[in-house]
Amino acid sequence: MSVQEAKANIHNDEVRTLPYGLYTDPQVLKEEQEKIFARSWQFVGHVSQVEQPGDYFTCEVAGEPILVVRGKEGALRAFYNVCPHRATKLEKNAEGNKKILQCGYHGWTFNLDGSLNRAPNFKGAEGLCAERSCLRGVRIEVLASLIFVNLDDHAQPLAASYGNFFAELEAFPFLGELKKINSKTRVIKANWKAFIDNYLECDHCPIAHPGFSAALDLSQYKIIQCENYSVQGTVVKPDKQYGSVELDKAEMQGGRFYWLWPNLMVTIYPGPGNMSIIQMVPIDHETTLGVYTYLFRDEQLTQEERDLIAFAEQVRDEDVELVELEQIGFRSRAFSKGQFSPTEHAVLQFHEMVLSALEQK
Ligand code: FES
Ligand SMILES: [Fe+2]
Repeated sequence: MSVQEAKANIHNDEVRTLPYGLYTDPQVLKEEQEKIFARSWQFVGHVSQVEQPGDYFTCEVAGEPILVVRGKEGALRAFYNVCPHRATKLEKNAEGNKKILQCGYHGWTFNLDGSLNRAPNFKGAEGLCAERSCLRGVRIEVLASLIFVNLDDHAQPLAASYGNFFAELEAFPFLGELKKINSKTRVIKANWKAFIDNYLECDHCPIAHPGFSAALDLSQYKIIQCENYSVQGTVVKPDKQYGSVELDKAEMQGGRFYWLWPNLMVTIYPGPGNMSIIQMVPIDHETTLGVYTYLFRDEQLTQEERDLIAFAEQVRDEDVELVELEQIGFRSRAFSKGQFSPTEHAVLQFHEMVLSALEQK
């Protein structure tokens, strides 16, 4: 079924999901890399990772190697992590601090603003095209201490891309004080969209997340669709706690679970300043790297913070098992698509966005 047909059919008699073929086809992932990941703002890190001049980290966006580095004068920049001489991946390490960037192949060196410093195999500037000798820049923006890049030079600015999301984050004044405490990765045997689908509804919570359901009042659970993002949450049951932590009544909000198009999930739990970030990075059409980042105020975690991580990881493991089982069914000939309940409306929003993105030229 073509993307156009899928879009026309999504609202037929009952509300149907994306065709399962979109979860099992390598060609679809190729298109998604081009039309979704290379055209959307992608979270790459937190400002605490690049505080000092020369601090850098490397990452991948839409399958492209990317380098984020703080310049001598303090400006944060992003570049394709590719040498202009003959394409070698420039910086091999995941993170560090450098005064100058050097390619390991023929030794070209670059200043932290991406300009060429020296090209030892060119004597002087003879034969060297200045324009093609600098690192190629990538758009980068920082909001709420979160660093995003976008490979699309024509994309809307970050602040205009997600409705009120960044304004809502202003309710959490501690965000600027957080530090990246750790990042864990997990290879998930499922298409990246399966995990997003899972995150965007809580119909499965009473069945699959007993701990989560015991702590939160699911009768008051709400999922609110917004522009290119959604937010969900509830209140904490008054007599319940996360892990061993008693929650004070003033903090009896159950946390906010945000999703940002296409593959970013940001959670702020009640209690001391914290943020958990989940990102789903496709490895191939049926394998995804889940990147889980925890941010707290202090590197020395309190018992309460360790309990919070354990709580989040428990929920994560329960979800991973579900989406891996779902991927088995996506491959089956039994059904070609599923149907949505009325409370799975945020998944429908995501599916409509996927189809609209795939329709673009
Ligand atoms: S490829 Fe980088 S210096 Fe030659
Ligand atoms: Fe879940």
